[in-house]
Amino acid sequence: MGESELSTRIQKLKKEKNVVILAHNYQLPEIQDVADFVGDSLDLAQKATKTSADYIVFCGVNFMAESAKILNPDKIVIHPDLNSRCPMADMVDVESLSWLQKDHPDAMTVAYVNTTADVKAVSDVCCTSSNAVKVIKNLAAKEIIFIPDRNLGLYVKRFIKDKEIILWPGMCPTHHDIKKEDILNLKKQHPDAEIMVHPECQPEVIDIADYVFSTNGMVKHAAQSKSKEFIVGTEKDLCYRLKKENPTKVFYPVSTAICPNMKKITIDRVVKSLETLEPRLELPEEVIENAKEPLTKMMEIGRGD
Ligand code: 13P
Ligand code: SF4
Repeated sequence: MGESELSTRIQKLKKEKNVVILAHNYQLPEIQDVADFVGDSLDLAQKATKTSADYIVFCGVNFMAESAKILNPDKIVIHPDLNSRCPMADMVDVESLSWLQKDHPDAMTVAYVNTTADVKAVSDVCCTSSNAVKVIKNLAAKEIIFIPDRNLGLYVKRFIKDKEIILWPGMCPTHHDIKKEDILNLKKQHPDAEIMVHPECQPEVIDIADYVFSTNGMVKHAAQSKSKEFIVGTEKDLCYRLKKENPTKVFYPVSTAICPNMKKITIDRVVKSLETLEPRLELPEEVIENAKEPLTKMMEIGRGD
């Protein structure tokens, strides 16, 4: 099937079956093009609560599709490839976390949304890269267990001095592998470009950035900035959206920054999901009930960038 035929078929199936397609900013360009909404994790969680569609086809990694299900238990959430999982989210599990929680009985547990639903269910509040600082500042507790991203936790610590933040040894392989030299080489080639990086990057990368943003934060900044060129320290396909929305500006990705799990969602799988309304993302009722509160608390706090 050619590109335009495929797109016509997708639009027809969406309408017939009352489906909304939500896609993360790291999805393949062809998926971003057929999605109804493209956004960061917070944006997509918010969009999921506002849709009147019967089915949500979620193009992103598992924890994002799970958040959509937790916030909309009555809706059918379809995840085109159930194996599209975030490796960082799998770096913390309920049992290991419970040991740390027992050692720090007065601490509140803040779970980055990049966690599985059962881990969220035993946490106090969630956050995304957009609002981690805002969420933690908002808490009364003086001791915080922050899971699972150590790099994001170290970034948050730069802004919060009146709380003890206990970090977990998790990280995103895609962002952790972005080297300071990758960014400096791009800067050498494009000296006028502004440097934007994601807070999942290592501290030495954050130190040389002009701006540190969530993916939607980068989208917003690129549109508002007077600069015409940007070095983008995050998953490379964010640059597809950046270029599409800012055709006169130039974006330089780190070419090795690829999230292989995001790429498991292919256009063929999306078409198949629209045809079959499978595979469905299911979660135990009890997990949904317990994970809803930490997610809802985060949504009430809103964006921080
Ligand atoms: P954002 O919420 O900034 O889009 O980040 C999600 C993510 O998985 C980053 O690696
Ligand atoms: Fe997870 Fe990193 Fe991929 Fe984001 S880029 S989904 S944190 S592995």
